[in-house]
Amino acid sequence: MAVDVILGLQWGDEGKGKIVDFLANKYQLVCRFQGGPNAGHTLKIEGKKFVLHTIPSGIFRENIINVIGNGVVIDPITLEKEINKLSETGISFLDRLYVAKKAHLILPTHRYLDAASEASKGKHKIGSTLKGIGPTYMDKTGRNGLRVGDIYESSFNSKYKSLRDKHLALLRQYPPIDFDLEGEEEKWFASLNQLKQLKAIDCEYFVNKAIKEGKQILAEGAQGSMLDIDFGTYPFVTSSNTITSGVCSGLGIAPQQIREVIGITKAYCTRVGGGPFPTELFDGDGQKLGEIGMEFGATTGRPRRCGWIDIPQLKYTLMINGVTQIVLTKLDVMDHFEEVKIGSKYSIDGEETGELPYDLMTKEITPVYTPFKGWNKDMAGTSDYDKLPDLAKDYVTKIEELLEMPIKYISTGPERKSLIVRE
Ligand code: GDP
Ligand code: IMO
Ligand code: MG
Repeated sequence: MAVDVILGLQWGDEGKGKIVDFLANKYQLVCRFQGGPNAGHTLKIEGKKFVLHTIPSGIFRENIINVIGNGVVIDPITLEKEINKLSETGISFLDRLYVAKKAHLILPTHRYLDAASEASKGKHKIGSTLKGIGPTYMDKTGRNGLRVGDIYESSFNSKYKSLRDKHLALLRQYPPIDFDLEGEEEKWFASLNQLKQLKAIDCEYFVNKAIKEGKQILAEGAQGSMLDIDFGTYPFVTSSNTITSGVCSGLGIAPQQIREVIGITKAYCTRVGGGPFPTELFDGDGQKLGEIGMEFGATTGRPRRCGWIDIPQLKYTLMINGVTQIVLTKLDVMDHFEEVKIGSKYSIDGEETGELPYDLMTKEITPVYTPFKGWNKDMAGTSDYDKLPDLAKDYVTKIEELLEMPIKYISTGPERKSLIVRE
């Protein structure tokens, strides 16, 4: 067993980038296993902020190989921009960034299809990041997709054209949207040259060889478990398996190689885009969490919806992921509240339950809250558990009690060093 996993236990943006970066030094390989540029993983190192979309968050640690796995969907235009931006920092990384030949490519027309599909849904829209994720995974499972390995084939241009034409025909089914295909195609083909600079690998052989050689591997998830295509709040989800099982298919490893599953939750809860969110707040507290937590999407800049931590939701995602270690992030955001709350159960049709119903949309869910006295004291940035106010410690202990699992890491600020490690 050599593979540890880091993934989100809520609706994304739990702070995965920061935690991957913090822990990356213990590993030789950091591998993204699903999702694409819909992800926005923020790292703050010595006052400087970086947002990664496709590149794994181990890239800032010297000597670590970063793999974009076969389960990821890649937009070469976004990736090129990201590479250029990262190059400005002066760190050397291109020789440490590998890409799976079996990873699928996002075409400009995938993005147009995403936009047209969302526009046609009106008020029922998913709130997609419009990066072309859904249409690309549809082509993957529909067996029409283009993969990184195809770029090197002589048939690539004709394969591209036939898929593009299929998309253009599909687009005619929707109300028209504006796009500049010629311009985007030019950029897309130009960006393939950058993609070709990266080492293209057979991810399954590469990762399994690394395991045999005794290397330590960290698999980095994107999105959150509640956005999983199978177990999330369908249809308000993304189009990949964001949970632990996605690591096996997204990198080509066997389940018995997975050791620790490190699940991340915020000390409260957020969601961006549409869909159910039982503990969502529409009052001053929600607004305050959003303001202090600076809850704006790292990819789209949209404001994130905010609410209290939701125990039934977390128990569900602990279960489907087989989480062995919990990380609680953004505890500092709750520093200045007279009272905070924990959504400890749901009341549905007058009955209390700790389980999620089949469809969170069709049921009237009233969270049952456990109120808590706020600690109302600044502890942002600390890496020392003893420096937490007693009431903050009580809040952490109560969550542990309700989740029936200890919390191993507590994050108290965006900086790499603002992390409490509890042995
Ligand atoms: P990811 O998608 O899971 O990597 O998370 P995002 O980067 O989208 O969103 C998390 C945001 O919270 C980023 O702006 C981080 O810099 C920030 N952040 C992470 N951990 C903490 C923390 O403990 N406290 C505070 N205040 N901010 C944090
Ligand atoms: P990270 O990795 C938060 C949400 C979108 C939308 C739904 C579908 O930064 O945590 P898609 O673009 O996949 O078609 O959007 O999923 N979503 C995310 N929300 N964090 C993310 O990634 C997300 N990636 C997608 O807002 O509701
Ligand atoms: Mg994010």
